[in-house]
This record gives sequence, structure tokens and C-alpha cells, in this order.
Amino acid sequence: MTGLPDHARPILQPILQVENLTKRFPSVLALDNVSMDVKRGEIHCLLGENGAGKSTLSETIYGTYLPDSGKIFFRGAPVEIMSPKDAIAAGISIVHQHFVLVPPLTVLENVILGTQKSGLYMDLKYARERLNELSRNYGVALNLDARVWHLSVGEQQWVEIFKALYIGVDLLILDEPTAVLTPQQSERLFSVIKQMRDEGLAIIFITHKLKEVKAVSDRVTVLRKGKKIATVNTKDVSKQELANMMVGRDVVFTIERQDMPPGEVVFEANNLRALNFHGEEGLRGVSFDVREKEVLGLAGVSGNGQKLLFDVIVGQEKPTEGSLKLAGRDITNTTTSKRMKLGLSSIPEDRIKEGLVMDFMVEENLILGFQRREPFAKGKTLVNQKAIRKFSKKSIEDFDIATPSSKQISKKLSGGNLQKLILAREFSQETKFLIAGQPTRGLDVGSTEYVRRRILEQKRKGAGVLLISEDLDEILNLSDRIAVIFKGELMDIIDVNEADIEQLGLLMAGIQKGEEV
Ligand SMILES: Nc1ncnc2c1ncn2[C@@H]1O[C@H](COP(=O)(O)OP(=O)(O)O)[C@@H](O)[C@H]1O
Ligand SMILES: [Mg+2]
Repeated sequence: MTGLPDHARPILQPILQVENLTKRFPSVLALDNVSMDVKRGEIHCLLGENGAGKSTLSETIYGTYLPDSGKIFFRGAPVEIMSPKDAIAAGISIVHQHFVLVPPLTVLENVILGTQKSGLYMDLKYARERLNELSRNYGVALNLDARVWHLSVGEQQWVEIFKALYIGVDLLILDEPTAVLTPQQSERLFSVIKQMRDEGLAIIFITHKLKEVKAVSDRVTVLRKGKKIATVNTKDVSKQELANMMVGRDVVFTIERQDMPPGEVVFEANNLRALNFHGEEGLRGVSFDVREKEVLGLAGVSGNGQKLLFDVIVGQEKPTEGSLKLAGRDITNTTTSKRMKLGLSSIPEDRIKEGLVMDFMVEENLILGFQRREPFAKGKTLVNQKAIRKFSKKSIEDFDIATPSSKQISKKLSGGNLQKLILAREFSQETKFLIAGQPTRGLDVGSTEYVRRRILEQKRKGAGVLLISEDLDEILNLSDRIAVIFKGELMDIIDVNEADIEQLGLLMAGIQKGEEV
């Protein structure tokens, strides 16, 4: 069934209204007097930067959290949603940002888990029929007997969605569902939820991506720092206007990637193999090189070996086979600190766990890894306080780190400022090769822009850069060449001028050019 044209859809009634919802966590006012409504037969986007309160709002509607104050009306009547049980009984379901499936059980078992009323056997039979019917209706193939841990993350998400449909739902909330999907899988999801909308469901679709708001929604509510900024008809606003509402100021969108002739090869990976923490081969013969004044982007859906590759390159994990070369030297068996001395800089994916010690002061984190070197060390055991102070002051200024002093405890800084701190430290030495793992994930738009500029600055100064990112727009904007990783193998390496989203998406799903889809 295809959707009715906009003018032919019936007048839509609100199924959900929230009034003046406020929710405070110990350290933050996550929802500040938020009101909104959602109608039957609409896809309503909740748009906001990381930390804006999107998940808190949806989890409050779902009963995971109780609001401090405010009211919720469902089908026109006030409801007390004290727990998810109440929400489900009312007809509200959610696909959480982090799924809650049970990996060793089958798809079928997962769907009926917690819903059985009349004995497991009866339910299994009924559930199988009902699920087959649903999967036919939406044209999504589901292997009901597959164990969940065998499924890709994208497939697991379908299981979550079908679980909600199976329980019976009038309002379905999807919390950042495209974060784990390739572009084609996202398209597929969009068309299925549009069908659900056309069949009368109300859908709340959470995202921080403007493109998705435009592609999928009828209306959009923008949240910023726990406050509702506006609800608007999607077709009446531009992406630029949405971005400005989301961030609260004008946003510059394009960052100029400069084409420049690359120099010598500065980094080489040859036939790398390595085991992941499950003991499986997570890298299966990865080879590439990066030249000076070049950004090689590594695209891929999360969990395809990116993290392991990062760890092997910085020296946190040993490859079982293959070799690494930095500036002409074999570094396969050298320590992390030796690699740093040779000009390796790194921005780790998990800055909080790996890049910083959160209980250290800002100035201590700024020299982390360099503390035993000139000018910060005095002899073998003493530190040169003066040199540290001078360096911290300059770093805080140069990198525009918002902190009251260099003695501030790091955990008080925002994500964007923590990332700047890492950049200041890593770029304080001459960088020959930079590896950046998801360098802008979780950052607000302003910090994202800043971090991207600084990465490109390293390229201009002559460094080679390996940019690992799940954000395809970021990859396309910053890279000169793009490699795509799938299940621990590089599918292809493409010049950015010859790359298109469609083709990258297929490679991300493990499909080579010309292969049957
Ligand atoms: N369970 C929680 N306990 C304490 N603080 C939380 C909790 N959940 C979210 N927060 C905080 O509330 C704010 C809003 O978070 P969230 O709703 O997750 O934002 P979004 O989904 O828009 O990224 C953030 O500052 C976050 O750190
Ligand atoms: Mg969230």
C-alpha cells in the first residue's frame, strides 16, 4: 500500500499530548516544562543535539522514568504511566536506543518474551502466524528461528520493531534507529514506517540528523538543552532553519576540504590480521597506505573491525599476522610510546575511557603520555611545574578549551571541551600520522565543526590522516580517499571524487559492485 497524497489524508487527531513535563536528574534538568502532541497517522520527529533530552522525553512517555511534574494524555484522557507495563497496556511501545533483546534466544522467543498469556506452546504457534503475517504485510523478511546473536544489528532492530507491532501498538517510538543502519537500510526503514503511518499508527522518530527529518517526518519538534524550541510542519522549514533551532545560532555547514597533491607514503598496513575480544578474527587481512597531506576515510557500520584496527595501529593490541610501517620504520612490535615518538597521534573513539583520566586535572591530562619527556620532566623523578603551567595555559588558549582553570578536574568539562583537550595534547608534538576514531561522535555541532577543522589543519601541515567514522557525511566531507570495512575486510578503496552514497552503502553492507543485492 502506498501513502495517500498529503491533501487526501484525513484530518489528524492527537493521540498523545504531553503538558509541561519536567524531569530533573541529579546533575541536570533534562526536561524543562516540555509540551507537545502527536497525532494518529503522522511521523513526528524529535530533533536535538546529543543531550538535548530526546531519550528522556521518550522514556518518560514510556514509563521508564516518572516525570517530576507535568501531565500525559493518551486518546484524549489523562493517563498515569507509572511503568512500561502501563505504557504497553495503553498501546505505547518503544525501540530503545540500546536494544534489550536476549541474544541466545530465537527471534520468535524474543518476540513473545514477556507477552505470553496462555502458555508458551500456544503462544509460539499463534506468534509464528501473526509474525509471518506482519512480515508479509511490510515486506520485511524475518527468520523467526534464527538466534538473535546471529543477526546483524540492523536485523535485530527489525525484531524490536516487530515485537512492538506484535504486542499491539498505537504509538511507536523509535530512538535514533538509523544509527546502526547503512543508507539503504535506512531508506527501507523509512518506507516501512511510512506504511505504518498510512495505516494509522502514530510514530515518534528520534534523530539528530536533519536529512532524516526532511526525508521521513510530517512534523518535527526541536529540543535544546531540555527545552522545547518549536514544533513545525516539516515541509515549511529548511534544513538550515532546523539546524539553527537545534543549535541556537547560525550554523556553518560546509567545511572546505582542500585538494592538494599528497606526498610520500607515511603509514602502511600490510595484511593485518588480529583477534577481537571474543577470540574471533576481527581483522582479516587489511592492507592500505596513507600518504602525507592525505585523509583516508574508513567507512563502515559500527562493529566491523574499526575499533580493533585502531587498537592495533596505536599498539594496544597485537596483530596475529601482518605488519605496520610508520615513516619508513617497521613498528609492528614497538610500544605505543615509541610510536608516539615517531610521530603517531591518536584521537581514541572512547575519549573518556581511553583518552583521558577523568579524575585528573586538565593540566595533567594535557601532558598525559608526555610527562616523562622534556620539558615536563626534570631528571628522572621530578616534574617541571613551570613548563607544565606554561604549556597548559597556551593549550587552553589555542584550543579554546572552556575551563575555569588548568587545575579543574577533567570530568567537569563537557564532551566538546574534552575532545579539544585531547587534540591540544596530541597535536602538541609534530604529527606525521594521525588516527582519529569517531572524533565527533556525541559532540554538539559547534565542537564538531571545530574538531573537523583541526583535523584538516593537520593534513595541510603535512600529516597523513586515517579518519574512522560511522558518519558518512563526515567521511565524504573530509576524506581524499575512502576505504570501506565490512566484517574485518576492506571491501574497496575509492577516490572521493568517484564515490557516491549509494555505492558506499552497498559496500558497507558487504556487497561488491555488480553483485546481486
Ligand atoms: N539516567 C540518567 N541519569 C542522570 N542523567 C541522565 C540520565 N539520562 C540522561 N541524563 C542526562 O540528561 C540529559 C539529556 O539526556 P538524553 O535524554 O539522553 O539526551 P538525548 O537523547 O537528546 O541525547 C543529558 O545531560 C544526560 O546526561
Ligand atoms: Mg538519546
